Amino acid sequence: MNVSDSEVVASILEKEGYTPVQRAEDADLVLLNTCSIREKAEYTVLQRINEMNSLKARNKGLKVGVLGCMAERMREELLEKKKVVDLVVGPDAYRTLPELLDKVGTGQKAVNVLLSREETYGEIVPVRLDTNGVTAFVTIMRGCDNMCAFCVVPFTRGRERSRDPHSIVGECRDLWTKGYKEVTLLGQNVDSYKWRSDDQMIRRSDDQNTKLGVGSSKSGVGSSQLAVEQLAVGGSLDLPTTDFADLLELVALAVPGMRIRYSTSHPKDMTDKVLAVMARYDNICKYIHLPVQSGSSDVLKRMNRGYTREWYLERIASIRRHMPDCAISTDIIAGYCGETDSDHADTLSLMAEVGYDMAFMFKYSERPKTLAARKYADDIPDAVKGRRLQEIIDAQKVSSAERMAGYVGQVHEVLIEGVSKRSSEHLFGRNSQNSIVIVPRHLDDIDLRPGMFVHARISSSTAGSLQGEVTGIVEEAHTNE
Ligand code: 5AD
Ligand code: SF4
Repeated sequence: MNVSDSEVVASILEKEGYTPVQRAEDADLVLLNTCSIREKAEYTVLQRINEMNSLKARNKGLKVGVLGCMAERMREELLEKKKVVDLVVGPDAYRTLPELLDKVGTGQKAVNVLLSREETYGEIVPVRLDTNGVTAFVTIMRGCDNMCAFCVVPFTRGRERSRDPHSIVGECRDLWTKGYKEVTLLGQNVDSYKWRSDDQMIRRSDDQNTKLGVGSSKSGVGSSQLAVEQLAVGGSLDLPTTDFADLLELVALAVPGMRIRYSTSHPKDMTDKVLAVMARYDNICKYIHLPVQSGSSDVLKRMNRGYTREWYLERIASIRRHMPDCAISTDIIAGYCGETDSDHADTLSLMAEVGYDMAFMFKYSERPKTLAARKYADDIPDAVKGRRLQEIIDAQKVSSAERMAGYVGQVHEVLIEGVSKRSSEHLFGRNSQNSIVIVPRHLDDIDLRPGMFVHARISSSTAGSLQGEVTGIVEEAHTNE
């Protein structure tokens, strides 16, 4: 999300005459886009801010700004305690950067951390930074209304709001014409994406809906049929309301050659309608990141996650029913307030039951102002958190290795993204399931290139990647038949 936000910031600044440079040493303005999710993340940023002192000593004209969640959370404190910081801008205030920079230019400090109920930066065309020219992020919504007890995001990124589907589809089409082959639709909780047309639009669409039977999504797919037909004739895509399943379908149809991924799902909101759309379109990747956080229903309750272990496992079963080949990854927190050995054992048993392809695993880190910080003691000793986290990591290594080994012998469609870090004679890409696949650089006398779709027979695996032999170049990837 921060990478995507930085691309919006780059676009706003480009209009002011700024251009991105590769090294901070060459810059007149350094903006640090920051994360508050765990204390460690903030600690890293504070170190980086200190490093700016030596840059400023060498370049007296250098201006330094802090953007993102830490800017929101720490505000004036940053300006007061970190003399090197000239500018503090929260995630919803990037449009005001030009005025703030004018102020900074006159030697003053500037701050804007106002959160917004409307801002989606919808029509801003992001400037792609550090791009491989193949994969890109597209933000579909901002903020989060969930209030998970451990999480600072609702405080730093504000209320949830969805972006107009027209501008999302427009951005995806634009990326396709620029040669991109994969988009990842981003939101804190994509399953609660919801766009409502204005009243006038609702009346007009309702008339059409009555004729075309739109909105009766009994089959679980095709509820956006009207919009889909409009897309097919190059028209608009106005539905009275567009939910995440509708949006996925619209994007899948608007850019049929493009691979589509998304992140992040929420187990309490992930619908079968979304799963049915995923199953129906070949260009929607068979990969779901479904953070569980804990395998214990007691802990989940205290986390205010809105689901139980049983509910979560039923969602996993539904994914498998819809898409037996779908990869699943997760986020897990070790040592949350009041977590017992038995709760921890529940997490390990849930991991064994699901068999995740991959997981992001963290020690619980208390965040100021959150429900957990106000209501529960952070009572698990750090050593116990560390031991539990290690057990979770060890279990995941086994699970990842098993899942990856299961792919050996299969032929996968791989989108090549770049040159392998380990060997210049190899390229890396990803299969639909989001695992990294390493392939030789050449197929007979053809040089393979980033952006190509190839078929690769998986020959071996580790817990982190697959090796493959290219069997052919895919001329027309995923035709959605
Ligand atoms: N401590 C540890 N991990 C956290 N996460 C969010 N807040 C915290 C916290 N206070 C993790 C969750 C979330 C991921 C993005 O970060 O697992 O899904
Ligand atoms: Fe945080 Fe929960 Fe929202 Fe995710 S869904 S951003 S964990 S509050």
